Amino acid sequence: MHSLALSASLAMGLFTASGIAQCSRDLLIAATESLLAAQTEGTADTLSPLAESVTYLEQFKAADLATGILSTPVAVEFNRSLHDTTQCATYTEMIAPGGAHPYVLGTQMHLTPEGAITNISTLVTDQGDWLFNATGTFYWASREAWDVIPEDQRDSREVIQAAADAYADIFNDKSVTVPWGSPCARLEGGAYTGSGSASDRCDVGIPNGVALVNRRYVIDETIGAVDVFIDFASLPDSHEFRVEGGKIRFVHTLTVMA
Ligand SMILES: *[C@@H]1O[C@H](CO)[C@@H](O)[C@H](O)[C@H]1NC(C)=O
Ligand SMILES: *[C@@H]1O[C@H](CO)[C@@H](O)[C@H](O)[C@H]1NC(C)=O
Ligand SMILES: *[C@@H]1O[C@H](CO)[C@@H](O)[C@H](O)[C@H]1NC(C)=O
Repeated sequence: MHSLALSASLAMGLFTASGIAQCSRDLLIAATESLLAAQTEGTADTLSPLAESVTYLEQFKAADLATGILSTPVAVEFNRSLHDTTQCATYTEMIAPGGAHPYVLGTQMHLTPEGAITNISTLVTDQGDWLFNATGTFYWASREAWDVIPEDQRDSREVIQAAADAYADIFNDKSVTVPWGSPCARLEGGAYTGSGSASDRCDVGIPNGVALVNRRYVIDETIGAVDVFIDFASLPDSHEFRVEGGKIRFVHTLTVMA
């Protein structure tokens, strides 16, 4: 970057803890708020602002916004979004335990620097997906603290991603050192490895010989979070992490079986 532009960016406070902001947090927040409103109402046509050409995926496959989940009202009772100003990307977790059809959804979006949405990719989980129990997902997710981390205590993007990568790598290589937090709890579908107590652990029930590949990250340093869309062997999957002081505190997974 030209040094004048660099000092201008510094003056404007566009830098995150690490990495250079390519788009404003406010534009990303506007996009995730629009997504939530559209998903709650089932009005894909109200999602804005859309780029001229939008790529829409469900379960990592091309889909049609007009007939997809975004055109179905979903009674979202819990949501959280990650805003990645370095990549102009977002991730939104939506938990709908009530209503006629319980769902847990995870959506990654990519935007232009001006804030227009170019890519939407949603994982739709419901009955029959891995450990699906939206009541359980809601119960545990709404008890966890994913508060904003004071600026001087934030991990860098690299540290946050490295924690996620170590976790993903250990499924295929037991020699990897994972920065487990203590406590640490994993919400796998609707099942919890802990009980919300100081002795909760995440290093339980991890299989061997599974390659977690094609990782697509959305990182939000302000809450120490990263979401990774992964091919879990051949299954469409999301692993979302909360990292505190370089260590994994929470993991949320969605795995599409159908
Ligand atoms: C999303 O969560 C926030 C709290 O984090 C809440 O204020 C908002 O109403 C929620 N939106 C929906 C559509 O549920
Ligand atoms: C967005 O969609 C385009 C067109 O399908 C694709 O080439 C590109 O890789 C996608 N970008 C992301 C970040 O998914
Ligand atoms: C789903 O989760 C809730 C809350 O943890 C629990 O009470 C219920 O037994 C679970 N249902 C099944 C089918 O496991």
